[in-house]
Amino acid sequence: MQLQTKHLLTIRDLEPGEVLGLVERAAELKAALMGPGHGQPLVNKSVAMLFDKPSTRTRVSFEVGISQLGGNILFMTSRDSQLGRDEPLKDTARVMDRYVDGLVVRTFGQEVVEQLAQWGDIPVINALTDKYHPCQVLSDLLTVQEHLGQVEGLTYAWLGDGNNMAHSWLEAAAALGLDLRLACPPGFTPDEDILAYAQEQGASVLLTSDPKEAVAGAQVVNTDVWASMGQEDDASRRLELFRGFTVDNSLLSLASQDAIVLHCLPAHRGEEITEEVIEGPRSVVWDQAENRLHMQKAILEALLSD
Ligand code: CP
Ligand code: NVA
Repeated sequence: MQLQTKHLLTIRDLEPGEVLGLVERAAELKAALMGPGHGQPLVNKSVAMLFDKPSTRTRVSFEVGISQLGGNILFMTSRDSQLGRDEPLKDTARVMDRYVDGLVVRTFGQEVVEQLAQWGDIPVINALTDKYHPCQVLSDLLTVQEHLGQVEGLTYAWLGDGNNMAHSWLEAAAALGLDLRLACPPGFTPDEDILAYAQEQGASVLLTSDPKEAVAGAQVVNTDVWASMGQEDDASRRLELFRGFTVDNSLLSLASQDAIVLHCLPAHRGEEITEEVIEGPRSVVWDQAENRLHMQKAILEALLSD
């Protein structure tokens, strides 16, 4: 499939039908793996991965995905490029587009991916910023589809920080008209403009500070670390402020009988999720991690194929 957008900086860049189209294509690529229907649309193409935060899943799934699609990979960070010596982003963008066919970027500010997209002439894919994690949420929709047979018409609960993942879930809810309940401690709620956007687009959004209210009857229970990358200095304060937001068996007993538990990983057992839940029968986190590979390939194919 082709997308209307040149870049994937946030889920808002996609038409609602494109969100579902990517889920469908990722499922096809998963089924085909390296067989017929898979294809190698990135032969003779190079993709640079610029990562200024650590990564296991995103880095490996993009690298393996690019390789399976026939492309070349360059992995770099600001530290080992001239970006670390203050070469302007707009200059870097205009140089990189003379060499490579796409940029996959993990960084702090959303403005970094926006500037690279603005100044370069190649697709930019957001592999996580402080504000959004679109590729993760797109692949999580594939995991929901696989386990519950549908993505629309379900009740989704988000527990914990109103962070980059929560923002991308809000935008997925906006695209698909989802019922999304977010339970966040006071002071850790998602950005108001993103909440308002999701509501304006027709998502059913409930924001509460009561985890039980969010989880009651939900089919998808989702959480993430309480301190994201870049917030490590605030981690111990958050342990206190997020007390009561741990996804444990008692909270999970309030969810639907068929509920699945998502966590994008890495997880901090005993903080946002218990060992029993992440290792328990409702947890689909390993399928969720695997699906990153299939969704990265659907995204790369859609944005970088000729
Ligand atoms: N879920 C996720 O993005 O994991 P990594 O930080 O390991 O890439
Ligand atoms: N919210 C987390 C997600 C990690 C994949 C972070 O930004 O660190």
